[in-house]
Amino acid sequence: TTYKVSVLVGSLRKASYNRKLAELMVKIAPITLSLEIIEIGDLPLYNEDLDENPPTSYTSFREKIRASDAILIVSPEYNRSVPAVLKNALDVGSRPYGKSVWNEKPTAVITASTGSIGGFGANHHIRQSLSFLNMPCMQQPEAYLGHIDDAFDNLGNLNERTHTFVKNIIEAYDKWVRRLLDIPV
Ligand code: FNR
Repeated sequence: TTYKVSVLVGSLRKASYNRKLAELMVKIAPITLSLEIIEIGDLPLYNEDLDENPPTSYTSFREKIRASDAILIVSPEYNRSVPAVLKNALDVGSRPYGKSVWNEKPTAVITASTGSIGGFGANHHIRQSLSFLNMPCMQQPEAYLGHIDDAFDNLGNLNERTHTFVKNIIEAYDKWVRRLLDIPV
């Protein structure tokens, strides 16, 4: 079985390190996973009033998440917490009440920041929401990539050590997702 994985990137900037890491994972993921980056930058700030007649950006985002088997989050840390754009996407997918598209989707959270603690604060703030949204989280291996600006050279190539680390994460995630989802319910 090939599982469909929706990848959410918590940074909107063009040269984002997190996007580069996400694109790398799309490329090097085992063939049993099919990764696709789902854009979240065009989702208006969540407002319950909009759900009386939801914008197509909301409905198409929700449909893409609903159709996926698992989720991969790759995000920087903003002010020791979750970038608003990522939290907004989680909020949009969680509503209308009782119709959350996140329920039971296995999820891994990878954070990369230029600071030395690798987005640890953001990583665990995200997990607080994932816990409420009933999204099982991969616990190990953990992925807090600090000083991520030093891991790329001027041409945008990732150093070998970080490349190997990212490869290990995506392979562990593949095994973990299959352990959860290969079991018929
Ligand atoms: C940051 N940055 C940052 N880094 C960190 O390690 N801890 C933090 O709390 C913050 N806070 C923060 C707030 C805001 C508003 C910005 C814009 C940035 C720095 C951040 O890690 C750096 O900009 C990364 O390059 C962002 O990731 P992308 O965009 O390269 O994926």
